[in-house]
Amino acid sequence: MSRFKAVIFDLDGVITDTAHYHYLAWKRLAESEGVPFDEAFNEHLKGVDRMGSLDLILARGSRSYTQDEKLALADTKNRHYQQLIATMTPDDLLPGALRALEEVRAAGLKTGLASVSKNAFTVLDRLGIRDRFDYVVDAARIANSKPHPEIFLTAAQNLGVAPGDCLGVEDAVAGVASIKDAGMYAVGVGSPEVLTRADRVIPSLQKFSLQDY
Ligand code: G6P
Ligand code: MG
Repeated sequence: MSRFKAVIFDLDGVITDTAHYHYLAWKRLAESEGVPFDEAFNEHLKGVDRMGSLDLILARGSRSYTQDEKLALADTKNRHYQQLIATMTPDDLLPGALRALEEVRAAGLKTGLASVSKNAFTVLDRLGIRDRFDYVVDAARIANSKPHPEIFLTAAQNLGVAPGDCLGVEDAVAGVASIKDAGMYAVGVGSPEVLTRADRVIPSLQKFSLQDY
């Protein structure tokens, strides 16, 4: 028996390694604009929506951009990203991801997905796991990107579960903040030095076990 009634997962960097594809696509775009880009800076972009990420990147450069230029750059990044995800298959599920989803449902809990990526449905379909979720938040309907709690609260509401009965799983600093500010239990996937607000941190979903929380 778990004390939770639902587990709400992030997608990029938790279920599959698309966090790396976002990194590659942003790096290509940033460098074409002469903006320095590395893994450490990328950490601030995880969980942040497309335009928000672009603003953070361009703020490191020396010139200003019109809204039309920004929209064109965001579109270019998205095309780089879509090229990278086009060849994904179920083999791109991270180790332990499918087992974790199965464990949650077998224990009678609901499963939700809370990604601010507008490509999330495409990625889920490529991985063949859309039907493993009782509710997937449509990022196009979310006004506030993580770290705002809106997306996790929306998932909980549509699953019919109170936030306090939900466990959220995230690889991003902004994502863990979103879970905590929604009033949920946060399991971080990554390093405890980075995900300092998480209630527990595991290195990957291979170590996910409901009985630990
Ligand atoms: C996720 C990723 C971010 C990405 C965002 C928007 O939150 O962690 O790195 O920028 O989704 O993704 P999109 O596919 O809509 O550009
Ligand atoms: Mg993520």
